[in-house]
Amino acid sequence: KAGNLAPTPPMGWNTWNTFQTKIDEPLLKGMVDAYVSSGMRDAGYQYFVLDDGWMTMERDKNGDLVPDPKKFPNGMKAFADYVHSKGLKFGIYNCAGNKTCAGYPGSRGHEYQDARLYASFGVDFLKYDWCNTDSLNAREAYITMSQALKASGRFIVFSLCEWGNHQPWLWAGGVGELYRTTGDITASFDKNKNYGSWSALSVMSIVDKQVNIAKYNGPNHWNDPDMLEVGNGMSFNEDKAHFSLWCMLAAPLAAGNDLRHMSPQTQSILTNKEAIAIDQDVLGIAATRVYQVDSLEIWAKPLANNEVAICFLNRSAVAKDVVYKWQEHAISNEAGKLSVDFAKTTYKLHDVWTKKDIGTTKKEFKQTLAAHSVVMLRLVKF
Ligand code: GLA
Repeated sequence: KAGNLAPTPPMGWNTWNTFQTKIDEPLLKGMVDAYVSSGMRDAGYQYFVLDDGWMTMERDKNGDLVPDPKKFPNGMKAFADYVHSKGLKFGIYNCAGNKTCAGYPGSRGHEYQDARLYASFGVDFLKYDWCNTDSLNAREAYITMSQALKASGRFIVFSLCEWGNHQPWLWAGGVGELYRTTGDITASFDKNKNYGSWSALSVMSIVDKQVNIAKYNGPNHWNDPDMLEVGNGMSFNEDKAHFSLWCMLAAPLAAGNDLRHMSPQTQSILTNKEAIAIDQDVLGIAATRVYQVDSLEIWAKPLANNEVAICFLNRSAVAKDVVYKWQEHAISNEAGKLSVDFAKTTYKLHDVWTKKDIGTTKKEFKQTLAAHSVVMLRLVKF
């Protein structure tokens, strides 16, 4: 329904993190098939998104974008039909500037024309980047494309990607359904990767940038801390921590690994229905960091039915013994959306990764957390 295209954080898969612009129809059809056979679709992932690199370097004589005929010999409509035939939704990419980040034609000055073309393909989702924008006003540029999509005759989820420089959390609600809050992620737990003119961000540095903007998150206007790097080179514990924190943040979940060759561990992370249920909770409230001493953090997210998700995070490279005496703590967030006093209310604890009940908040929580790992719990009133 218009205005309610993303009541919970959108879930999907995107080409960029693994393939960059090296995409084509045979590869992607295999990926669509793996999306279904691996259980991703059944776990709730819905969008199949082509990032940068799907088109030719020039528009045609009518000014239309042209799907690269070498990569998509049957055209884009045929590929979108294939995606739809598997019960998935189809997403595509462009950019507010004159060119995309990889140098393909951008939408500047062609917004309505491009939106009509996407509708004719059967597009359900547009990621809209921010390269080569010169002095464009971000809010106005995104509003223009938003209106073009609304006039296209199709309901198209609009994913803003201007990396948070223009504080989209303050104005993107109603313009699009999700907005990137940071620069690009890289598959590293806590070390940024320097590329000279820019740095790709580690999971921890992205998490730190979410702390002060958690309160802006909510249904149909999601803070987007970038796509997932689960299965792209971090350790099992690091991948679990990354995925857990994105679920705690009620973040959009865009897998970015090669779905055709997932390890059982990677698959167990991406399709953990209990973790996903925390991400997709109907309240749509992002977690707050309620405790931070040295490298140990606790994040808390209110859930429907007065339940709470709690995530213990060990950021350090060595194991840590954690003792947390629930009954000595009351936790809350600045927006008043979270307020729990463990001295007054007792909860049962359920571990989302081991899938075991581990007692109640009457007893202290006592565990050794491995390096770069989390324990994520669902708390239900006792
Ligand atoms: C930017 C975006 C990435 C990706 C690339 C494509 O860097 O932030 O997510 O879309 O462009 O060129």
